[in-house]
Amino acid sequence: MSSFVMPTSSRFNGYASPAAVSTVGLRKSYGDKTVLDGIDLLIPAGSVFALLGPNGAGKTTVVKILSTLITADGGQIQVAGHDPAVDPQAVRGAIGVTGQFSAVDGLITGEENMLLMADLHHLSKREGRRVAAELLERFDLVEAAKKPASTYSGGMKRRLDIAMTLVGSPRIIFLDEPTTGLDPRSRHNMWQIIRELVSDGVTVFLTTQYLEEADELADRIAVLNDGRIAAQGTAEELKRLIPGGHVRLRFTDPAAYRSAASALRETTRDDEALSLQIPSDGSQRELRSLLDWLDSAGIEADELTVHTPDLDDVFFALTGSNQPNRNQEAVR
Ligand SMILES: Nc1ncnc2c1ncn2[C@@H]1O[C@H](COP(=O)(O)OP(=O)(O)O)[C@@H](O)[C@H]1O
Ligand SMILES: [Mg+2]
Repeated sequence: MSSFVMPTSSRFNGYASPAAVSTVGLRKSYGDKTVLDGIDLLIPAGSVFALLGPNGAGKTTVVKILSTLITADGGQIQVAGHDPAVDPQAVRGAIGVTGQFSAVDGLITGEENMLLMADLHHLSKREGRRVAAELLERFDLVEAAKKPASTYSGGMKRRLDIAMTLVGSPRIIFLDEPTTGLDPRSRHNMWQIIRELVSDGVTVFLTTQYLEEADELADRIAVLNDGRIAAQGTAEELKRLIPGGHVRLRFTDPAAYRSAASALRETTRDDEALSLQIPSDGSQRELRSLLDWLDSAGIEADELTVHTPDLDDVFFALTGSNQPNRNQEAVR
């Protein structure tokens, strides 16, 4: 698959924000297995960036390199104005990382975890207590603060983990799959937390396997596949990379299906499912003319669904994975 890199989003045109993170030609192999095969990323300060890819794509490897946990084999990297290979301490001072594997110590309480972080950041006892209390409050952990963290739910542990990361007031936060394994409610809570971080001016670099999450949160998305960035841009830009939407008509009466199929041009037929796909932008005007036409021809479809291209389509078109979960909206 050819690599396609979108130009910088219009949102960041004009006086471009300084890059919080950038990489050019980032490479990493384990033995003879190439995991990252030349990755170019540009993440403006104060934005949310989503690195999207299936399991094993190399997302965590990118996060580990950018957060100085491992070193790259090649390429230029800049995080908060520093090269992690040259000045890892400066990078560490500017970032916070919440990994797939939590830093939370289950044996001690949420509050003790927070105070430990405050100590690590050399805050005074008084300042540490103030910051811990404020963050526990902000992340809705006041009631749980005196209980061992091992008793927390998955969502609470993630919240504590992010709260601990914020003790050091990082300017850039790496969130490696922050919602994997969370129930829908905790996931939405996490999305809210991430949005609030950004409104405070923090740059968020998140990885996810969920297209919906990238679409919800990210200013820019890069699709990682086979060690390369298959596409990069805003959700809207990515959606424009693939063919447009369609309307799907489904019939139960074979005769109605056949007459519609022979009368409508430019349709894709599925004779087995008795369904027709008609290219459409999904606009009210196009839908109305289709419905008018069906009425006037005396044809009644049993179901009409509108499909506008979404990130699933982009993702699956770019990564060549299996059939996507179609996000269809029934209009009738
Ligand atoms: N320490 C390691 N040694 C060997 N292979 C590794 C190591 N870490 C990761 N890999 C391999 O690199 C690839 C990418 O892994 P990873 O970055 O964890 O992917 P993701 O986070 O997207 O699921 C996988 O094939 C994984 O098996
Ligand atoms: Mg990972």
